[in-house]
Amino acid sequence: MSATSSRTPSFWDDAVVYQLYVRSFADSDGDGVGDLGGVIRRLDHIAGLGAGAIWLNPCYPSPQADHGYDIADYRGVNPEYGTLETFDRLVAEAHARGLRILLDLVPNHCSDRHPWFTAALAAGPGSPERARFVFRDGRGDAPPNNWQSVFGGPAWTRVTEPDGTPGQWYLHLFTREQPDFDWRNAEVLAEFDDILRFWFDRGVDGFRIDVCHGLIKDAALRDWDGGGYNAHSWNQPEVHGIFRRWRALAEGYDRDLLLVGEVWVPDPGDLDDYLRPDELHQAFSFDLLVQPWDAGALRGAVERAAARTAVHGAPAAWTLANHDVHRAVTRYGIVRPEPAPPSNDAFAALMRPRGEVDVKLGERRARAALLLVLALPGSVFLYQGEELGLPEVLDLPDEARQDPVFHRSGGREKGRDGCRVPLPWSAAAPAFGFGTGTPWLPQPDWFAAYAADVQDETSTLHLYRRAIRARHELGLGEPGEVAWLATGEDTVLAFRRGEVVCVVNTGATDFTPPAQWGAVVLHSGEPAVVAADTAAWLAPARS
Ligand code: GLC
Ligand code: MG
Repeated sequence: MSATSSRTPSFWDDAVVYQLYVRSFADSDGDGVGDLGGVIRRLDHIAGLGAGAIWLNPCYPSPQADHGYDIADYRGVNPEYGTLETFDRLVAEAHARGLRILLDLVPNHCSDRHPWFTAALAAGPGSPERARFVFRDGRGDAPPNNWQSVFGGPAWTRVTEPDGTPGQWYLHLFTREQPDFDWRNAEVLAEFDDILRFWFDRGVDGFRIDVCHGLIKDAALRDWDGGGYNAHSWNQPEVHGIFRRWRALAEGYDRDLLLVGEVWVPDPGDLDDYLRPDELHQAFSFDLLVQPWDAGALRGAVERAAARTAVHGAPAAWTLANHDVHRAVTRYGIVRPEPAPPSNDAFAALMRPRGEVDVKLGERRARAALLLVLALPGSVFLYQGEELGLPEVLDLPDEARQDPVFHRSGGREKGRDGCRVPLPWSAAAPAFGFGTGTPWLPQPDWFAAYAADVQDETSTLHLYRRAIRARHELGLGEPGEVAWLATGEDTVLAFRRGEVVCVVNTGATDFTPPAQWGAVVLHSGEPAVVAADTAAWLAPARS
């Protein structure tokens, strides 16, 4: 019996999960910032898509130095977004619509305003308060080692000691407002056990876990060799003990609780250890997300992800976009690539590729890519706004940009604001129906064409609805084989899932599928052939 068939079924085997960036989804109180009240009002949009779960980006109290990934209190709700009472209401309203709720767990670092960090600053060197973080003496006036922040600049900041003298340094793999915890410290482990229980007891259905590969650092904090991925700050073997602990904790509850990890590793095979049967249930398949629009490249990533599932039975977590990467329309629409600026982030050039974009072409391809992922076994995570076919907003004025990636890289990297612009709901309403206030990031005029209320039968939104419904009806997400079919064309991939054949044409000419594959039941372009840059699902005629 294969690893897949011996597992008990869980909701994440084939779920469609809607990723909701709260700040930019819908604003209910007119302050220009999305909030939980806005989410509640628009839940029917998500249920209507056919999603089975929502992942909320962090909505805890936070000074917003990295838009919620700098948490000051892990057991509350950011006052801009609502209260714990609003949160409870959201969980109830979501559950009533068959939508599970996943929160974002951010264990690598907190905010520099977290009470533990302010206590650490006050307590001074050698204290138990400092031991919860990574404080070290410098090398003379230089930082303790040469590690760099993912967002630009050094990964260390020097503090002023309580007596006014220049003092120790603390480690932050991201901004200086995000001090890293020391995950070798037992107090940190105990605190997070309690945080997980706090939310599980409130009814959440799982966590997306931030920066899983970063929690444990090399014990000696050895210097980075300078070549791309820092092998001393990421992917340390001791990290797995943490996931085993959380898996055991989650299994202490008698309902389905999902742990899905954000794990960036250079070799997709490195994910296997995170997916052992007593660790994470899933890890995102970023390998597929970073592939160019090329049949061979896409097929390779699907095969590598299937190999992950074959090892431990963990269903794939497919994703084509999230709040850190350029939107799919824009990535797939690049017609003249430009070199990426230098970055401390080994994956930046893949996540946010630059170049001249043909939006119409990108739109066609993104729709085809949707049919590709929705035909695959596993769960599919859809980032808000992708269902509207939104392109990345590439031309935000610099004064409007808020992402620390932009500011810490001295503007060299534009960062992630362009996929976080508040959503357009109604073409004719102020702020396109996002809310009555001035949106926290400016919306371009062309957003009107993408508003949910002007999307007709041929639109991307309707394709999402049809395709997600068909995926459920045809059982395409369920565990099972991806059986590749010969197409005779390097630019066309095809695979069979049960009775259904999915064809994706990344080439420049039409592809006519052989008659025995059946008739088109769903297509991203034109019905007759699988035209250039489109995809289709075929199935034998039903009698
Ligand atoms: C993850 C998040 C990203 C955040 C970073 C630091 O990569 O997805 O948005 O800035 O971690 O928490
Ligand atoms: Mg608001």
